[in-house]
Amino acid sequence: MQNGEMIMTDFFAGLEGVPASKSGVSFIDGEKGILEYRGIRIEELVKKSSFIEVAYLLIFGKLPTKRQLDKFDSDIRFHRRIKYRIVDLMKTLPERGHPMDALQATVAALGMFYPAKEISDEETNYWSIVRLIAKLPTIVAAFARMRYGDEAVRPRDDLNHTENFLYMLTETPPDPYMAKVLDTSLILHAEHTMNASTFSGLVTASTLADPYTVVSSAIGTLTGPLHGGANERTVEMLREIGDVGKVKDYIEEKLKKKEKIMGMGHRVYKTYDPRARVLKDIANKMQKRYKDITLLEIAERIEKVSSENLKEKKIYPNVDFYSGIIYDRMGIETDLFTCVFAMSRVAGWLAHWLEQLSNNRIFRPSAIYVGKHNLNYKPLKNRR
Ligand code: ACO
Repeated sequence: MQNGEMIMTDFFAGLEGVPASKSGVSFIDGEKGILEYRGIRIEELVKKSSFIEVAYLLIFGKLPTKRQLDKFDSDIRFHRRIKYRIVDLMKTLPERGHPMDALQATVAALGMFYPAKEISDEETNYWSIVRLIAKLPTIVAAFARMRYGDEAVRPRDDLNHTENFLYMLTETPPDPYMAKVLDTSLILHAEHTMNASTFSGLVTASTLADPYTVVSSAIGTLTGPLHGGANERTVEMLREIGDVGKVKDYIEEKLKKKEKIMGMGHRVYKTYDPRARVLKDIANKMQKRYKDITLLEIAERIEKVSSENLKEKKIYPNVDFYSGIIYDRMGIETDLFTCVFAMSRVAGWLAHWLEQLSNNRIFRPSAIYVGKHNLNYKPLKNRR
């Protein structure tokens, strides 16, 4: 910057601190550890709201009336089913493939079954939003079962969003306590300003692509271990350590090798991630109830050892650190954790998609060329 003006040669690796949009969807104070959705603190939303209500808040900008919520909820319940041709398509995917790849591919294909290219039509957009929120859990649960040769379980309209998801995974009546915990976790993961997957979705949205393409772009970006994939890696790390007595050596060895501790650190939070605080509290309550969550003790020890070593760098647990422990206790398979994240973050992606459409300009940043110029063309036979 010079005299307050952006010089075109300024470069910020990872676009750190560079605003990519003006947004009213959510707000983070990374120093104080505050996260608000549409101006409401997440701590209040987890106490008083449901995931479906929070999705409405994020997407349509305000809390719904009872009538609006009932309609949105019942529209979502009604659109949970996936067509048998989508199930057939999923059956052709490799059963050993990662569920996030299956989810991304299937969501991209959904756009062919439910044409939604008319993005200037509010009605079309509403039904795309409903279908995406409704069908993501069905797709995740269907792939989770079909990869073992089992039939996908049909969704049940009489169950709420998270009860139905747990039911489709196991075909057994869901535990209301677990369903409530999962709902809270979905609220906490639903939105987080200009994170990598939201940005990726926005770039796609800015080309006026349809919402299925926008969401499949965002799912692809969420997959990586530095973003949503960290919840899966965190639990793998906890299992690899296996014993609370081994934590200190493991962490110090990792830090000596300059390796990252999964589930720790954040680009924006320079204090405790408020979502991790709520999830840690839930994990502790679950432990009091079930008394068998061995991974929790290891995680808390990692947090302690890491904070001793990384305090100066302001590295604290992020949302991915405790979420996996909770999903693991629910019986959700580890490689589905990031899909559960996507089932939630779809609300935030769609909120940003609509916001982008309301004032769109295609994303077309520049790059600082560091290559050569005016080289002679060397014939193939002369190249070594
Ligand atoms: N473990 C150990 N050291 C860390 C960690 C970590 N998890 N995170 C950051 N650091 C250190 C870095 O080594 C670096 O140290 P240095 O200055 O001595 O080189 C310093 O802190 C800054 O780290 P960066 O990687 O430059 O921070 P950045 O803002 O680019 O990255 C990120 C943020 C990607 C989240 C990083 O903290 C990380 O890789 N964490 C582990 C993966 C993870 O949990 N991702 C989920 C994030 S939440 C989400 O996306 C939903």
